[in-house]
Amino acid sequence: MSFDKVAFIRGMPKAELHLHIEGTLEPEMMMDLAKRNQVQLPYENVDEVRKAYQFGSLQDFLDLYYAGMSVLKTERDFFDLTYAYLTRMHQENTRHVEIFFDPQGHTERGIAFDTVLDGISAALEKAQKEFGITSRVIMCFLRHLSEDSAFETLNHACRCKSRIFGIGLDSSEKGNPPSKFSRVYRAAREEGFAPVAHAGEEGPSSYVCEALDDLKVLRIDHGNRALEDPALVKRIAQEKIPLTVCPLSNKRLQVCPDLTQHPLRKMLDAELIVTINSDDPSYFGGYLTDNFLAIADALALDRKALETLGRNAFVASFLSDRDKQKALDEFNAFTSRF
Ligand code: HPA
Ligand code: ZN
Repeated sequence: MSFDKVAFIRGMPKAELHLHIEGTLEPEMMMDLAKRNQVQLPYENVDEVRKAYQFGSLQDFLDLYYAGMSVLKTERDFFDLTYAYLTRMHQENTRHVEIFFDPQGHTERGIAFDTVLDGISAALEKAQKEFGITSRVIMCFLRHLSEDSAFETLNHACRCKSRIFGIGLDSSEKGNPPSKFSRVYRAAREEGFAPVAHAGEEGPSSYVCEALDDLKVLRIDHGNRALEDPALVKRIAQEKIPLTVCPLSNKRLQVCPDLTQHPLRKMLDAELIVTINSDDPSYFGGYLTDNFLAIADALALDRKALETLGRNAFVASFLSDRDKQKALDEFNAFTSRF
């Protein structure tokens, strides 16, 4: 019998490592929360929100992404947002998630850091109890803001170490190189946070080098443009630095408008530890399974490649060695059964 790619992707136990929780805000919830919190939006209905999702660049998207966030105000809002994502992930056989959040996107508009983290954490706890989904929280610094603002945000994280596992770097990449945050990252590493950073999405391959050299990241988020530098590719392979790749995001943000041209194939050929992720699923037209289906189709990925991508997500995760092995055993049991 021929290999049923769709059934394999849907059924496989999955992990997601690159997901901005604010990017899971569906237009329906955006309208509901706007009403609940009496926030004025420039849209009359859900269709108008969806119609606005035409992006020419990362910045086009970010403008809408920050505007959308304005409806999130209370702990309950952050709980509802996170729990909706986790319910969806449970339906997709996702076993583990590592979630980014952007505290400065909220504190800058007067929402307390603890309101945001309390809501997210409560949903993660509930999903672990109900669905058995494990998680890690990664707090991102907005790179278009100052080093001072990042330090202030790090101080909040230091009060909440039991609930924040890592730190990340997101927002407008061009003109905001990783080196801008070298000192913040050094302080965060000394406090025990696991460092990751977005690099090489729109920015040049030299930003990926900086993320490795200056920020000492354990994973690169995106990393597409690293492929422009063969020596860097070799290094990423040798040092086993995972890349969290987001196909539908790359397509929608014009990083790679045609997925048949996506660098994932070259990444796999270079034996990089690449993973598939959704980034901001509400804005980019698909959750984790949709991303797997889209890239599998565009690049005609075979069973071996899909197994590698599925397994990599657990290998590259921040699970403890013991939990990682358990998850991989479960993954291997699925593949030998299928
Ligand atoms: N890139 C940079 N910053 C972001 C993204 C992204 O894809 N999503 C949310 N913030
Ligand atoms: Zn991202």
